Amino acid sequence: MEKTLVIVTHPKLGSSKINKRWIEELRKYPESIVVHDLHAEYPSLEIDLRREQQLLESFDTVILQFPFYWFNCPPFLKKWIDEVLAHGWAYGKNSGYKLAGKKFALAITAGIKEEDNKASGRYEYTLEELTRPFEITFKYVKADYQTLHAFYGEEHNPTEEYIEENTKDYINFIENLKKKNKEAILG
Ligand SMILES: Cc1cc2nc3c(=O)[nH]c(=O)nc-3n(C[C@H](O)[C@H](O)[C@H](O)COP(=O)(O)O)c2cc1C
Repeated sequence: MEKTLVIVTHPKLGSSKINKRWIEELRKYPESIVVHDLHAEYPSLEIDLRREQQLLESFDTVILQFPFYWFNCPPFLKKWIDEVLAHGWAYGKNSGYKLAGKKFALAITAGIKEEDNKASGRYEYTLEELTRPFEITFKYVKADYQTLHAFYGEEHNPTEEYIEENTKDYINFIENLKKKNKEAILG
């Protein structure tokens, strides 16, 4: 069965609420979802590039999951992107563009409420706008970017009901990505 790779970057997963809950749910589907926790894999922050590249090569659908920090991803994910999406592998003459055509998506937890993350809100920009650098990075390496799933308002005492509903939506989001991939393969 076609599996989805979920690359998680959370510098303090021990004290996380939402990412932890998401991971717990993702791990209920080992036949279709592989969770790759970067901080657990590389506690010294030294990344095995070849290993990461080989892992990416073996999946058609990849999700980058992380908490939003200062309107961006946590620094270890940026380091991972800088190092793993290397010239000669991800892009460049004779690189083979190894991520070409693969479906990529983001799964982001935000402290800020959704209504504050829009033009009329306090922080002016939507998550879709704030994640344009990811979108254009995927485009640069010829991958097929598939937008994002988000949890909003972690800093505003979200109800258990909302957390559970959102976690279910995340699983459905992954299922839909997979369906799209199958359709693309079948033409
Ligand atoms: C250093 C730092 C920066 C943060 N910056 C933002 C931000 O720019 N936007 C936002 O919505 N939340 C921000 N937050 C809140 C986190 O995104 C939020 O606590 C986290 O996503 C909740 O997920 P967790 O329960 O898995 O930790 C920040 C938190 C920290 C620690």
